[in-house]
Amino acid sequence: MTYDVVAVRELFPALSEGAAHFDGPGGSQTPLPVAEAVRDTLVSAISNRGDVTASERRAESVVVEARAAMADLLGADPRGVVFGRSATALTYDLSRALAKTWEPGDEIVVTRLDHDSNIRPWVQAAEAVGAVVRWADFEPDTGEMHSAAVTSLLTDRTRLVATTAASNLIGTKPPVCKIARAVHEVGALHWVDGVHATAHASVDLSDLGVDFWTCSPYKFLGPHIGVVAAAPELLETLTMDKLLPSSNAVPERFELGTLPYELLAGTTAAVEVLAGLDPSATGSRRERILAGFAALEEHEHRLLSRLEAGLRGMPAVRLYSNARKRTPTLLFTVEGMTAQEVRRGLAESGVNAPASHFYAIEASRHLGLGDEGGVRVGLAPYTDDSDIDRLLSALADLV
Ligand SMILES: Cc1ncc(COP(=O)(O)O)c(C=O)c1O
Repeated sequence: MTYDVVAVRELFPALSEGAAHFDGPGGSQTPLPVAEAVRDTLVSAISNRGDVTASERRAESVVVEARAAMADLLGADPRGVVFGRSATALTYDLSRALAKTWEPGDEIVVTRLDHDSNIRPWVQAAEAVGAVVRWADFEPDTGEMHSAAVTSLLTDRTRLVATTAASNLIGTKPPVCKIARAVHEVGALHWVDGVHATAHASVDLSDLGVDFWTCSPYKFLGPHIGVVAAAPELLETLTMDKLLPSSNAVPERFELGTLPYELLAGTTAAVEVLAGLDPSATGSRRERILAGFAALEEHEHRLLSRLEAGLRGMPAVRLYSNARKRTPTLLFTVEGMTAQEVRRGLAESGVNAPASHFYAIEASRHLGLGDEGGVRVGLAPYTDDSDIDRLLSALADLV
């Protein structure tokens, strides 16, 4: 297994602007092959999907290839890969489709650990049909969300459980597999927000046993688009509000309007970059993706250990990322400074570390950070030791 961060960094023109980017959890920088795929698709002859002209066939193959790429990335069935404007938009759309099957008194479960895009659509869909919303909490001190926090809320009226695979605020990775088993025992569906998780570790949907997995390619080197993956047989059971002449096939039924072909091509290119992260890997694209993520995890783990040791060594810094299993994403505050002051101070040293609740507003409030939140630093495939050095020294100058 190898990881060549110097070679990885060369793929990213944006890094030549000089900032140390810890803002990856909000959206990663874009490698050249992704930008080129987007451009090439836009400047090539392309029409609506079809099989008569070369330009129709190009559009068709862009779509087929993007579904195949996402299926390889997630260990999913390409026939169940749905593309949309964003994970938020897809969650809203599918929540309305799923809520058509709910009745007054049915129950759904959401968590306070989640990004609001995996809370509010469910809460609002439940309100619209008179379903009951139950809230699962995480432990603010440890950052842990144990399976019991969710499973203790399950009843024979539970219809859907929405949890995150990893918190975009504090990195916590709840036991998704265990939760999915319990959710299925009561006959409910498990919707998982994998937007933050997908950027940091390989995913195998058939292994996890969840029903829906959302992710956003712009968090893992791709363009700004959203994806939800599910078993095609499950998608067949859902009805969508859609235009009369548009396809009722799965997954097209859920893809309102014309797909953004250039962004789909960019998504395929991003998956190829991930599949190349371990240059010594061979085999199928799925196998190379697994090897690439193993190499990435080792790389990010080493950098995280350095970063975390440095931050924990600063008495004025308080870390909120404490769960045993988590992504390389740290949330912290500094005694005597607002999060925005820290963010601005770091920015003056060319260190990009945003401050917010990052839309995980329930989690921020539950941590006692209110609507101000904290400073978030996240690692990405292009993060290197010099980035860590710059962050630690800029912070040491501030506190
Ligand atoms: C964990 C998590 N879920 C959902 C979202 C929303 O994703 P999108 O911008 O694709 O709607 C984000 C974006 O930051 C996120 O981090």
